[in-house]
Amino acid sequence: MRGGDGRDSCPDSIPGSGAQAAARAAELRERIEHHNYRYHVLDDPEVPDAEYDRLMRELVALEEAHPGLRSSDSPTQRVGAAPLSEFAEVVHATPMLSLGNAFGEEELRDFDRRVRERLEVEEVEYALEPKLDGLAASLVYRDGRLERGATRGDGERGEDVTRNLRTIAAVPLRMRGDGHPRVLEVRGEVYMTRSGFERLNERQREAGEKVYANPRNAAAGGLRQLDSGITASRPLTILFHGLGLIEEHPGFASHRELTEGLRGWGFPVSPELEVVRGVEGCLAYYEKIGRRRDGLDFDIDGIVVKVNRLDQQRSLGAVSRAPRWAVACKYPAQEELTVVRGIDVQVGRTGTLTPVARLEAVQVAGVTVTNATLHNQDEVDRKDVRVGDTVIVRRAGDVIPEVVRVLPERRPADTVPFRLPDACPVCGAPAARAEGESAVRCGAGLSCPAQRKQAIIHFASRHALDIEGLGEKLVDQLVEREMVDNVVDLYDRLDAEALAALERMAEKSADNLLEALERSRQTTFPRFLYGLGIRDVGEATAAALARHFGELAALLGASEETLQEVPDVGPVVAANIRSFFGNEKNRALVERLAEILTWPAIPRDAPSPLSGRVFVITGTLGTMGRSEAKERLEARGAKVTGSVSKKTDYVVAGEAAGSKLDKAERLGIPVLGEEDLLRVLDDPSALPEPGDPS
Ligand code: IVH
Repeated sequence: MRGGDGRDSCPDSIPGSGAQAAARAAELRERIEHHNYRYHVLDDPEVPDAEYDRLMRELVALEEAHPGLRSSDSPTQRVGAAPLSEFAEVVHATPMLSLGNAFGEEELRDFDRRVRERLEVEEVEYALEPKLDGLAASLVYRDGRLERGATRGDGERGEDVTRNLRTIAAVPLRMRGDGHPRVLEVRGEVYMTRSGFERLNERQREAGEKVYANPRNAAAGGLRQLDSGITASRPLTILFHGLGLIEEHPGFASHRELTEGLRGWGFPVSPELEVVRGVEGCLAYYEKIGRRRDGLDFDIDGIVVKVNRLDQQRSLGAVSRAPRWAVACKYPAQEELTVVRGIDVQVGRTGTLTPVARLEAVQVAGVTVTNATLHNQDEVDRKDVRVGDTVIVRRAGDVIPEVVRVLPERRPADTVPFRLPDACPVCGAPAARAEGESAVRCGAGLSCPAQRKQAIIHFASRHALDIEGLGEKLVDQLVEREMVDNVVDLYDRLDAEALAALERMAEKSADNLLEALERSRQTTFPRFLYGLGIRDVGEATAAALARHFGELAALLGASEETLQEVPDVGPVVAANIRSFFGNEKNRALVERLAEILTWPAIPRDAPSPLSGRVFVITGTLGTMGRSEAKERLEARGAKVTGSVSKKTDYVVAGEAAGSKLDKAERLGIPVLGEEDLLRVLDDPSALPEPGDPS
């Protein structure tokens, strides 16, 4: 994705005097060369792409203002750096070009105007695809068989990674169908899905191995393994997006035809490809894919706009290593630089002390980020994040913002390593790390006000009792003013008069809260159990316990052995449950709650109607991310897969659902909207019959 030469943009200011400009250009070149080396040769970039792009744009503008400064060895005049020496070198039959960037609507309109003028036409047909954030590869097929595969390298020469590419399941070893050209060079993007990346890092962490900063680096690290056995164990995939060379074949008339041809030969191509007329269609597509970006399971950094007709592509040709017939329209970067202003310690519901980095506010992928969790002491140690550090933050998909890593070269002189305190910052009780755990906990339990607050917030949360309007600020006030000590007090001690006295609490909102509390009295057994906030009892375990015991009395009387008969309840969770109910105060709370709340009976050990059902989730959901929807369905026994086939039982379609929804409709698979999904999650018996389109 590097290599856009940013010819289209303007810097903030251009030094006027020649000497000043020359000095600045030299400095920029040095920095860009350095970052190029880190990125292309070491696969270990030091700064986010957005920062690199800014340097490059500044240099391009500087050279434009002072043409005398442009030299053939300037980084603006080439695409990348030399390949690593370990792999055999491959000279590409035709150079692997890079793409120019269009930042914003105006620059895209400029691109379209230039294309129309050169072609002398009124309107151009464009083929549009997401721009995958992975790394480019070129694969040569001779008489239908994979002969050689290479990385892009500097565009002219890459590395021979044939053995590694062969390990990627999405790479055809033999072309399908017929009419194969004698020689075919196809080009595509090797990448890793976000879920594959999370899984890989989890594995790496457990094995004490290197953890990757983002899916792109993980994909690069995977493809460039000298041991292809390691590559094979990495969840890499590929989508093909173009041709290098085609011999003895009549060829194709358009990019769309080309992708259809490739698909027919067994090469995966983007399912999101669209052909539109004119720039308005491109802008609409840019918006549409942008809205879906967070919900995708892979990183994209923009869309690629290509002139669809190949004869028009040929007549437009290329300039300085980038085609005139294509351009990349970038989205806001998913990684940015910022500074750690402080590290706070939060106390969670079960007493866990969590370090949270307070960041200088920064826009990441369109959202202002001001803090990022650092998880636990091990994570802080691994990244060595300190107050004052410049860090890279990443926000992609539904995942909460993360500190990817520190830039050690920007660390101020007087920083100190961060350590979690050995006393609870809220109540002062001793905080310690239990054997074999990563968490440091405050041992004070519900006598710690922080834990009391969190227990109430959790009880009121959406997947528990869902008490609308009872947010963190309000709970803070209620606990601090000693109006509420525990969840029972919400029902027993609050009235309109007391509430109206609180800050920012008008009569109306007091009434609304009381109504919400009233409504919450009618709940479900799993919601109630989840709301208790027993350590390690998440939604899935709560649902399993409810199904297994059917009623509260049976659960309260269950021994650790009996508890372990419940699917997914092991000795640790069983012990947690026993110790929760064994505590007298908890017991009293639970018994009083059972008087206040009501829930419909659950038939004992009834199998969940969701059990074994295969779901596909597509589009954007308003109330939760796709990964959360997946987790919640799986918690109820469903399977969630990525692509629609005859084996799919249900498709959940959010906003702007695309090709998967079309396919579901074609195959007559029942489609659930978001409302339906929420209903089914609450009450799985609301699930329509499979194959019974609703
Ligand atoms: S077409 C002349 N289509 O972006 C190059 N490239 O910045 C034409 N990329 O090296 C490339 N997704 O690796 C094309 N749908 C897509 C792409 C794509 C990602 C990468 C490609 C290329 C880089 C250029």
